[in-house]
Amino acid sequence: MTGTQHGAARAWRVSTAPGGLPLIGHALLMGRRPLEFLASLPAHGDLVELRLGPGRAYLPCHPDLIQQVLVNARVFDTGGPVKEKARPILGNGLITSDWADHRRQRRLVQPAFHPTRIAGYAEVMSEECEAQSRTWESGRPVDVSNAMQALTTRVTARALFSTEVAPEAVAEIQHCLPLVVQGAYRRAIDPTGLLAKLPTAANRDFEQALTRLHRLIDRIVDDRRRIAGDRGDLLSALLTAQDTETGGHLTDQEIHDQVMTLLLAGIETTASALTWALHLLGENPEAEARLHAEVDQVLGQRPPRYADVAQLDYTRMVFTEALRLYPPAWLYTRTTTETTELAGRQLPPKSDILISPYVLHRNAELFPEPESFTPDRWRPERSKDVARGAYLPFGGGSRKCIGDVFGMTEATLALAAIAARWRLRPVPGTAVRPKAHMSLSAGPLPMVPEPR
Ligand code: HEM
Repeated sequence: MTGTQHGAARAWRVSTAPGGLPLIGHALLMGRRPLEFLASLPAHGDLVELRLGPGRAYLPCHPDLIQQVLVNARVFDTGGPVKEKARPILGNGLITSDWADHRRQRRLVQPAFHPTRIAGYAEVMSEECEAQSRTWESGRPVDVSNAMQALTTRVTARALFSTEVAPEAVAEIQHCLPLVVQGAYRRAIDPTGLLAKLPTAANRDFEQALTRLHRLIDRIVDDRRRIAGDRGDLLSALLTAQDTETGGHLTDQEIHDQVMTLLLAGIETTASALTWALHLLGENPEAEARLHAEVDQVLGQRPPRYADVAQLDYTRMVFTEALRLYPPAWLYTRTTTETTELAGRQLPPKSDILISPYVLHRNAELFPEPESFTPDRWRPERSKDVARGAYLPFGGGSRKCIGDVFGMTEATLALAAIAARWRLRPVPGTAVRPKAHMSLSAGPLPMVPEPR
């Protein structure tokens, strides 16, 4: 079906995605080639309807429609099957809480990400970025995906639990988290819900890793309750948080759920984006040379520090452009809580809305030559032409990523620390294609470090 729906201000193109099959609709296309399939849909309308098995979902393709969804968090709330499956893993934290409780939680967690605290976490980031870049050897291939995952795990664990977190705790998170993330993704995309119940090795590994992660968090929170005072880390901020409206605090269970949420939301996302940035630099020697020039000029011979981040403009533009081409959160969802209108179309309650920064960022009407890696499009004089709501790697509205500044700071420091020492060469013949998992992953990515 295709038609033009007249909203209050303008005529929107509304259609059904082509290629649906009886019974399953577009589920096979979404399962097999989600990125290609979704990226083909803006050509069919501003709002495109999909059938995923018996259910219907809507993909707003126009930035104005996406904004409408993101800013109206009460009507377009989190929910739907994906969030329901995340709840047993994440508990009731920022990602899974519904609208009313989310506001309270956000008030309580936001101070942990205040700029003054980010400056403290940045010391840990600088140390870890520098340490990671020192482990490489000239000419010996590194799996960049693995290295970035190890880096962001260490940074997040130390920012959460302060500098003296035992190395075993970091190792435990490094072991358990990827298993939990993979298991969570398998559950999220299984429409039957049966997969999780099968006695497979993958399910056993997932259950064990989840139990171990829960126990570790409980132990750390419990230990910390015994020590008074602010350690300057994220956990201290959560333990001392007080609601400005009610005076209430977070309970131990709530702190546990927020910690779990931060681990799951903050580690893989930043690692994937950094991996893509390094891949893109390897493919674009001109951009790489400009990055090296900036890093040499700002840092001289010393490692990057928090105060440098504001000077590392080109480094930030490189990362911003990597986030455009390969947004780690390539798809997120909302569910309507009541009958509402979008693009002039009446949507019943419980309608699923799909928001895909990947689709948005590769739309040629919004970004000229969308497939090309052009950090310069983020120069201030050019970036002002980017349409409002066209660039959403961190989401928007009241559920916008709480770790956006944390992630940008970490990534800028990491790119600068690596660029100060190394040029990472692609390994010829390595096929790199985005894999739409929980994050938009590059998969294993061997690259060869050459000293600069
Ligand atoms: C490049 C790195 C990152 C990307 C691309 C990213 C992306 C996103 C996106 C798109 C959302 C919104 C999802 C939605 O609307 O449903 C989100 C939410 C969130 N992110 Fe990030 N994120 C990144 C880094 C981080 C870091 C480093 C942390 C924490 C240390 C973090 C913690 C969170 C949390 C807790 C939420 C839920 C916020 C809320 O609902 O109030 N993220 N992130």
